[in-house]
Amino acid sequence: METESGKKREKFSSGLAVFFATLGSAVGLGNIWKFPYLTGQFGGGAFLLIYFLCILFVGLPVMLGEFYIGRKTRKNAIGALAELKPGTGWKHIGTMGVMSSYLIMFFYSSVAGWVYFYLFKAIRGDFAAITMETAKAQFGNVIMGPVSPIIWQAIVLIVVSAILAMGVQKGIEKITKTLMPLLFVLILICDVRALTLPGAWNGVDFLFHVDFGKLSAAAILTALGLAFFKLSLGMGTMITYGSYFTEDNNLFGTAVRVALSDTMVSLLAGIAIFPTVFSFGMEPGAGPGLLFMTIPLVFSKMPLGNLLLIAFFFLTSIAATTAMLSLVEVPIAYFTEERKVSRPKAALLNGLFIAIVGVLATLSVDKASLLGNITIFGKGFFDLFDYLSSNILLPLGGLLIAIFMGYVVKQDDVRRELSNHGALKINSLISVYFFIVRYVTPALLIVVFLNSIGIIK
Ligand code: PHE
Repeated sequence: METESGKKREKFSSGLAVFFATLGSAVGLGNIWKFPYLTGQFGGGAFLLIYFLCILFVGLPVMLGEFYIGRKTRKNAIGALAELKPGTGWKHIGTMGVMSSYLIMFFYSSVAGWVYFYLFKAIRGDFAAITMETAKAQFGNVIMGPVSPIIWQAIVLIVVSAILAMGVQKGIEKITKTLMPLLFVLILICDVRALTLPGAWNGVDFLFHVDFGKLSAAAILTALGLAFFKLSLGMGTMITYGSYFTEDNNLFGTAVRVALSDTMVSLLAGIAIFPTVFSFGMEPGAGPGLLFMTIPLVFSKMPLGNLLLIAFFFLTSIAATTAMLSLVEVPIAYFTEERKVSRPKAALLNGLFIAIVGVLATLSVDKASLLGNITIFGKGFFDLFDYLSSNILLPLGGLLIAIFMGYVVKQDDVRRELSNHGALKINSLISVYFFIVRYVTPALLIVVFLNSIGIIK
């Protein structure tokens, strides 16, 4: 397809590339940082069960909808919706998506900065004689700064903007294809190590033991928000990536494979972290520092421990970076296609904007942080950006996409696209899809929303 500037619009080169690039978007800090600490805070197994249900009945249908919208139109999130329903307000799902992308990037780049910093510290050998107390103290120093976390956040944004400026679909493809499998292997090594710690079983029990007594409306809303955040949904990322998919890609197959693999990575991360938490007598509800305090302990006193620690934080940096590429690609695709800004310029300006506002998140992580005492709706900036995006904007975007798919677009058109113009014989599967996306997905989202109104104080 020719774009106005006469250049060919980029596309992923094969089905495998589609899979790994999409998985590269899904797998990120969500699995390794957010999933474990939220599961810890909201009570383990019961939270996990709700999370699975959210993926199945909400996440997958929305993902498929986004793939359809993107591949059918081959446009950025706003342009794609404007093309499917010209002259209507539907394109503002895309506008909301661009806003969510910024909100997420403000705090995501901050946490990614901690990960880069931890990689640097591991290389320097800072974790050689680590104990539970020093693990906590080191994390405290890293996030308090105030100067160093801002610098690391800036480094993260320079890396992300530079890669995006080059527009290296080929680069992204290559990175994700080789490093995703490696990340998987490394987490497995962590798992083996964590499971052989004394008292490890309590951690496994915590992760998988379902205790409905621990469930609350807040836990359900959080699980739902996590499902969206994890699978990069409700904000146009999968529309944008879908617009780069190959013509013959089986969209159903890709959605299922990505959701399964992503969930697997989260579970493996949980299996690395909770046994460690219990073995060292830490609090599973310790919050955003959980990953950073446990992983150095997992590898301490283990042969080649420091080398493995370096590898772990290196791969986590990569996972965070490829997820950020897909986050920032949403506004970049919009600015280059709809506003005719050059790619390097769009990358630079977006990076700058995120860096400037992102400092607010970095300086408000903890109550004791420099801006930690400023609160809006009872939350500091860091928590506010996270809460607004994950718990409100992404599920709202998802609800609108489900309604759009179920009631607004022509069903025949969706059938044609999902079956690759009849090449795939999946008519009854598509009928099941329509049933879920018309009735089940919106109903669940609305119930959770109504419920959450009572929670937002
Ligand atoms: N899915 C990514 C993660 O789990 C985060 C993300 C959210 C990426 C939304 C793109 C869009 O880390």
